[in-house]
Amino acid sequence: MNPFEKYSAEMTNNMLDLTVLEGSYLPEIFPHREREIDLMAKTLSSVFHNSRPSNLLIYGKTGTGKTSTTTYVTKMLKEKDPEGIEIFHVNCQVYDSPYSILVEISNALTQIDEDKIPGLGWPMDRIYSELLKRMNRSRRFMVVVLDEIDKIIKKNGPDALYVILKLSDDSTVTRTSFIGITNDTGFLESLDARVRSRLNQESIMFPPYNASELRDILTLRISNIAMSKPIDDSALNLCAAIGAQEHGDARKALELMRIAIEVSIRDGTKKVTDKEVYRARDKFEMDVMREAIATLPPQSKMVLLSAVVTQEMDSSMMFTGEIFENYKSICRELGFAQLSSRRVSDILTELEDFGLLTTSKKSQGRYGRTRFIRVAGNYFDVKRYLVEDKDLEKFRGTFLGKQARIDTTGPSDSLPYEKIDEKIRDIWDATTLE
Ligand SMILES: Nc1ncnc2c1ncn2[C@@H]1O[C@H](COP(=O)(O)OP(=O)(O)O)[C@@H](O)[C@H]1O
Ligand SMILES: [Mg+2]
Repeated sequence: MNPFEKYSAEMTNNMLDLTVLEGSYLPEIFPHREREIDLMAKTLSSVFHNSRPSNLLIYGKTGTGKTSTTTYVTKMLKEKDPEGIEIFHVNCQVYDSPYSILVEISNALTQIDEDKIPGLGWPMDRIYSELLKRMNRSRRFMVVVLDEIDKIIKKNGPDALYVILKLSDDSTVTRTSFIGITNDTGFLESLDARVRSRLNQESIMFPPYNASELRDILTLRISNIAMSKPIDDSALNLCAAIGAQEHGDARKALELMRIAIEVSIRDGTKKVTDKEVYRARDKFEMDVMREAIATLPPQSKMVLLSAVVTQEMDSSMMFTGEIFENYKSICRELGFAQLSSRRVSDILTELEDFGLLTTSKKSQGRYGRTRFIRVAGNYFDVKRYLVEDKDLEKFRGTFLGKQARIDTTGPSDSLPYEKIDEKIRDIWDATTLE
């Protein structure tokens, strides 16, 4: 028998089902979002009385169901009147300028390749009038969902939304409404008054889920999986509890459940227990951290590396000054330009915002109170992820002062990765499973 037979059969059977727990899966029932769905439907239902729905702003923390419920509600609206209604869902993390958004909508309104507007080169007013022309020969109502709408402002300044929202004034044949979605509650304040009043004609707040609400969401999702493996109630509760702790995040709770099931399949355990959930949490957090590190700009990576090295050398010396000194050595060794201490201090603050560092104020005798810094999580992992970068992989700590060469021949190099993972897992099991 092919030695893979057993694993591939078991894996695919279970994996296929697990798509139900993934973010891209759109459920049909949203427990604890009945109020929000009803409010959205009420606003949008103006189309059935032949009037333009108010623009709508939806806000709340990540994982509170904003994107998925909006997708669901707009899909249902379209189902009610497929001929009369057009829906566009724009992810503003991808399409983050007024230009790209207007082009995207224009191009979606035509099936003919020759009519497609190029991604560059047309002046804005030409795109705008072309878009209006196309809109006015299609449907009666159009709903444009601008998901992560704050990204447009962050990239292009406070005026950027104005030209987009103006569509609802200027489109007379096809009447257009906007649904803006954001995680950033401070976003409205950053808008200028005329944009704010245009966007915020109605608003719906999505509150965080508590643990028992998350448990209901998980239970319903899991009931759709034909699982051969039982899931302990306590494991389910634990996923819900961790999600609730994390600003009521359904995405995190679902992800944990999915990874825990995967872990249990991989390890061949009979059922999914707390232990698999804890493993899933560790894996999840490491994945998040690795991703966060990978997307840092080069200078931030070097400052973070310096913090790691400083902590490794002498963890009582985690002050801005020490980190700056080591940062300079690292730049010298890797051949990068050095930023000023002021800039490095700003970067340390940014790294703290990303959750990669934590700081506390510490009394330092005659220096008064200074910032005492810690690398968040296991600095051993942070270092491992940092030196995955091709610019940083050559780092050997050659110019660092004191006794303190960085130990790159330590466990991170001499052990193969699986072994490291094993070791780390043991440490975690000991610390998290008591
Ligand atoms: N009430 C709910 N019922 C079922 N699934 C939900 C519910 N709320 C959120 N989810 C699920 O949680 C995940 C994150 O939701 P999402 O709508 O992307 O959140 P947001 O856009 O607020 O960050 C998705 O997989 C979604 O299907
Ligand atoms: Mg979203």
